[in-house]
Amino acid sequence: MSVSGFQTGDSVVVTGAAQGIGRAVAVALSQRGARLVLWDISAEGLAETEALCAANGASCFVQQVDVGDPARIASAAAEAIARQGSIFGLVNNAGIFPRVAIRDVTPDVWRQVLGVNLMGTVFCSQAFGAHMADQGRGAVVNMASGRALQGTPRGAHYAASKAGIVSFTKSFALEYADAGLRCNAVIPGVTETAQPLADSTLEELHSRGKRIPLGRIGQPEDIAKVVCFLLSEDAAYMTGQSVPVNGGAIMVP
Ligand SMILES: NC(=O)c1ccc[n+]([C@@H]2O[C@H](COP(=O)([O-])OP(=O)(O)OC[C@H]3O[C@@H](n4cnc5c(N)ncnc54)[C@H](O)[C@@H]3O)[C@@H](O)[C@H]2O)c1
Repeated sequence: MSVSGFQTGDSVVVTGAAQGIGRAVAVALSQRGARLVLWDISAEGLAETEALCAANGASCFVQQVDVGDPARIASAAAEAIARQGSIFGLVNNAGIFPRVAIRDVTPDVWRQVLGVNLMGTVFCSQAFGAHMADQGRGAVVNMASGRALQGTPRGAHYAASKAGIVSFTKSFALEYADAGLRCNAVIPGVTETAQPLADSTLEELHSRGKRIPLGRIGQPEDIAKVVCFLLSEDAAYMTGQSVPVNGGAIMVP
C-alpha cells in the first residue's frame, strides 16, 4: 500500500476559503505549489482569496458552494474533478457558530449547524473520497475545534458538530486507509478571525491570549501551516488523528 503526501502541482479543495483560516490555508498552499479549488458562499471573499493565491502563481478554480447543500456539493465536486483532472487534497474548513443557549436553541439552528459543519464535512469527503480512492492517493484535513473537547456555553450545537468531526475523521481514515487515503483533523484554539469576534472584542481576545502558555491567541497562518503539514509527505504515517493547535491553551484551566 502506498500512502502519499501532497506534491507540487496537486489540486487541493479548500472549503470556507473566502476569509479567515480557509483563506490562510489557500494562500499557504499556493506558496507550496498547489493548484486550488476554492469553495465558499461568499463570491466577493472568494475573489479576494483568488487574487492573493494568483499573486503566488497558483491557478484557482473558484466555485460558489454552500456545503450545507449535499446536492450542490455533488454537482460542484463532479465539475471540479472534470476541470482539474485529479484532486489530491480536501480541506473541510467551512463552519458556522451561532451563539445560542441550550434553553433557547431551536431545531432549525441545530439542523443548520450540524448541516454545515458536520454533514458538510461528511458529504464533501464522500464526493472527493470516492475519486481519491479511484486514483489510489489523497489526503483530507478536517477543521474541528477545542470546543469539541471542552464543550462551550451558548454553543452545544457547535461543540457537538465538531466532536462529530473528530469521530468522523477516524471512521473515514479506517474505511479509506486500504485505498491509500489519509484523513486527519486540526483542533484550533482561539484564532483571530471573524468567528470569535462575533462575541468578543479584539482586546478581550488578546487579553485571553496572555493567559495562554505561548502568550498569544492563534493567527490563521498558525493553523494553515499544520494543515499543510498534514497534507504533506511529512505526515505520511499519520491518519485518523486530531491535532490540537492552541499555544498550549488546553492545559490552562
Ligand atoms: N477562529 C477560531 O477561533 C476557530 C477555533 C476553532 C475552530 N475554528 C473553525 O475553523 C474554521 C474556519 O473558521 P474561521 O475562524 O476562519 O471563521 P470565519 O467565519 O472567518 O470563516 C468561515 C468561512 O466559512 C464560510 N462558510 C460559512 N458557511 C458556509 C457554507 N454553508 N458553505 C460554504 N462556506 C461557508 C464563510 O463564508 C467564511 O468564509 C471553522 O470550521 C471554524 O469552526 C475556528
